[in-house]
Amino acid sequence: MAFPLVSTLGEYHGRRDEARGDPERYWLRCAGALDWIAQPTHAVDANGTWFPDGRLNASVNCLDRHLETHGDATAMIWQGEEEDDVLHLSYRQLLAQVCRMANVLRDHGVAPGDRVAIHLPGVPEGVIAMLACARIGAIHVVLFGGFSPEAIADRLADSGAGVIITADVGRRGAKRIPFKATIDAALDHGASLPIRHVFVVSVTSETIPMTDGRDRFLSPLLSVASALCDPEAMEANAPLFLLYTSGSTGKPKGIVHGTGGYLLWAAYTHALVFAHAPGDIFWCTADIGWITGHSYVVYGPLANGGTILLFEGMPSHPHPGRWWRVIEKHRVTGFYTSPTAIRALMAEGDAVPERHDLSSLRVLGSVGEPISQEAWGWFHATIGGGRCPLADTWWQTETGGIMISLVPGAIEARPGAATFPLPGVTALLLDASGTILEGEAEGMLCIAGSWPGRALGIWGNEAHFHATYLRPFPGFYFTGDGARRDRDGYFWLTGRVDDVINVSGHRIGSAEIEDALAAEPAIAESAAVGVPHALKGQAIVVFVVSNGPAPDDILSRVARAISTRLGRYAAPERVYVVPDLPRTRSGKIVRRLMRKIASGDTEGFGDLSTLANPTAVATLIATVRPHT
Ligand code: PRX
Repeated sequence: MAFPLVSTLGEYHGRRDEARGDPERYWLRCAGALDWIAQPTHAVDANGTWFPDGRLNASVNCLDRHLETHGDATAMIWQGEEEDDVLHLSYRQLLAQVCRMANVLRDHGVAPGDRVAIHLPGVPEGVIAMLACARIGAIHVVLFGGFSPEAIADRLADSGAGVIITADVGRRGAKRIPFKATIDAALDHGASLPIRHVFVVSVTSETIPMTDGRDRFLSPLLSVASALCDPEAMEANAPLFLLYTSGSTGKPKGIVHGTGGYLLWAAYTHALVFAHAPGDIFWCTADIGWITGHSYVVYGPLANGGTILLFEGMPSHPHPGRWWRVIEKHRVTGFYTSPTAIRALMAEGDAVPERHDLSSLRVLGSVGEPISQEAWGWFHATIGGGRCPLADTWWQTETGGIMISLVPGAIEARPGAATFPLPGVTALLLDASGTILEGEAEGMLCIAGSWPGRALGIWGNEAHFHATYLRPFPGFYFTGDGARRDRDGYFWLTGRVDDVINVSGHRIGSAEIEDALAAEPAIAESAAVGVPHALKGQAIVVFVVSNGPAPDDILSRVARAISTRLGRYAAPERVYVVPDLPRTRSGKIVRRLMRKIASGDTEGFGDLSTLANPTAVATLIATVRPHT
């Protein structure tokens, strides 16, 4: 059985009302679209636990169950960095590869509930490793390729992973990214980490150092492993994966997603928003190291039996039309990417995409940051030929999948608006005091009640989940985002209302950067803020107070401290050395003021008399002004 279709406004209203009126019935019916080993008899219990008595296996839902109807259909098209490097894997072949990898893991002692870290470039083994973990009930922890060794060591320690799957190197154009060397450095850094095995995918034939007894190349192990592997019957609420994301505290959080509710949400939202139909070729450009890669490269489209496209390369290499070439060559039907990518590609000019046949495209999506009307219009007209619905999809790592989005055919688009909550999602705006705002309004975006894709919690810290998301506005899930609702009920996202910075769709906490700088002896204290940036959406600006006379190389020390602790993806755009940071009388740094000043907005600060050091503001303005 497939998900109930929504292709008209009437159907959208029908589903929304059903989900509201009788959620138990609605979600049990939707759950019928998955294959269960033990069919759930309840949708959600009083504690908000989804499908409490259901059992299933996520890899079976993504692979085995499609064999009967379309086992020889392509499950994955992999386009390598080199134009001629292309791989087509049918569902049958992908299942066999997943089983081999699962058997290798099992043979090396990986048991249900164990954590397996995956640190890989855009090679098929990333998807295969995730599904292999799912098959044997291991919890995958995909670590983004851009993390520094220290950032990886932190996440390995927090997750307690015993096994890592990595690659010799990643390819980025002519460059080689040292994946295995990064893991080696992470393990040197975290000498007490309980890592038993490091499995290495050979992307190239380069020789790399291997540690005896710990490191093994995967391919000889896979070639002798069986292509059959019994799937574990997992409880719906057994964790499927952990994924680290940033919040306003310094420590990244391991968001835990369960098996049943999460998979249902990934598949349900993929079917609704991308109007999934048999034969679709879906390309989500996200790295599997982020939630978008989990839900829309892997779990959603495969659970729905579609063909996924995985691209190893970069948008503009070796020519600025590389992505458009990929769409043309593989006849991609659904294309899901980020505003950052759209802005960069738009800057290359219309002539670039016009050289390619994009007529296979049927539906487009955008995710990760607010999309401007201009970028929306360009994507819709120039890439979608004006005929493809373009969904601006709002969601978060914690929500598991899309929450607010256009539903093609049902909702009329408004460029730049995420439009309406999907059936089953009740989105609300609250003011700072927690009062629900009605009608046309701007406020804090919250979600009432639960939905199947909601994260189970934060790994090892249940109380933190509650404190972050549920305590700020009791009775509601607080997203950390601001939004405006227009008079017709459309939602327009306005950005984070907490101290999370969104650089090219990557979440970075102010406190994470400040913690990284706290380790640098030349720096007494610091504050990091996000400012608007034409290409990246937001860029990081850091204010530092030096410890005594500022050394000449203070700027490079700041850059080094951040890239060592977090990774180059968190590199600041500008760094200012200032004598003092504005703070309240109770000693709290007022980032709001710094954000305003760093954005070049130096008027209308309101009453500064509540600051302990009001003169700091004038100094900041004088320091920043020449640069904005
Ligand atoms: O601020 C919102 C922004 O990205 C945050 C979630 O980041 P992450 O957990 O990394 O997940 C990214 C992919 C879902 C949100 O709190 N965000 C995401 N999508 C949108 C968005 N902001 C505006 N419009 C969107 N469509």
